[in-house]
Amino acid sequence: MQIYLDTANISEIKEYVDLGLCDGVTTNPSILAKEGKDIPSAISAIVKIVSGPVNVEPIATDLEGIIKEAGEYAKLGKNIVIKLPMIKAGLKAAGILKKKKIMTSITLVFSPSQALIAAKAGADFVIPFVGRVDDGGAYGTEMVGQIAEIYRNYAIATKILAASIRTPIHVVELALAGVDIVSVPKKVIDAMIQHPFTDAGIKKFLEDWNKKTQK
Ligand code: E4P
Repeated sequence: MQIYLDTANISEIKEYVDLGLCDGVTTNPSILAKEGKDIPSAISAIVKIVSGPVNVEPIATDLEGIIKEAGEYAKLGKNIVIKLPMIKAGLKAAGILKKKKIMTSITLVFSPSQALIAAKAGADFVIPFVGRVDDGGAYGTEMVGQIAEIYRNYAIATKILAASIRTPIHVVELALAGVDIVSVPKKVIDAMIQHPFTDAGIKKFLEDWNKKTQK
């Protein structure tokens, strides 16, 4: 399973690139707004340090505007993925960008039927939102599991990039469902590494070693 970082913060990305744990990056307008830079500057800084796919979402929601912004962002690096909304203009843009050999993802996906359409539109990645489905009272990882089963049934090449991930348990359930990629905020990947028993174990080993050396 690949792990992407769901952030545009350079120090967070650098930390995980240095650990060898950042296979790619997802951003969205809310994430980019936090960094206080214009989109091309923020994305250029990311592609300098990340060699895997870097997702950037146009602000426009009409076809002409999406294609115009996509052309600008695609120039920023060979690893740019244009993140398109799951609306008719986004689906049409996926087909147009595919012909231009620009990678695309379809985002804001909340159901298996949307994921089936995203694949038929030719997107390289589909982005189901786990946490927001949970927020709506349904079961996010189960929804992604259904997408994974449907894609396996038809040997669909579109990769599942699960996002809106809030906990390590989400990641485990997604891994059990066989999803290709999870995109996680720093808080979640930090929590995947840490365990209180690991910290307690290190403390105890050191205490025992220090007692022995004092004898
Ligand atoms: C990334 O592609 C998504 O935009 C992001 O994971 C959404 O996360 P949120 O639901 O926590 O805002």
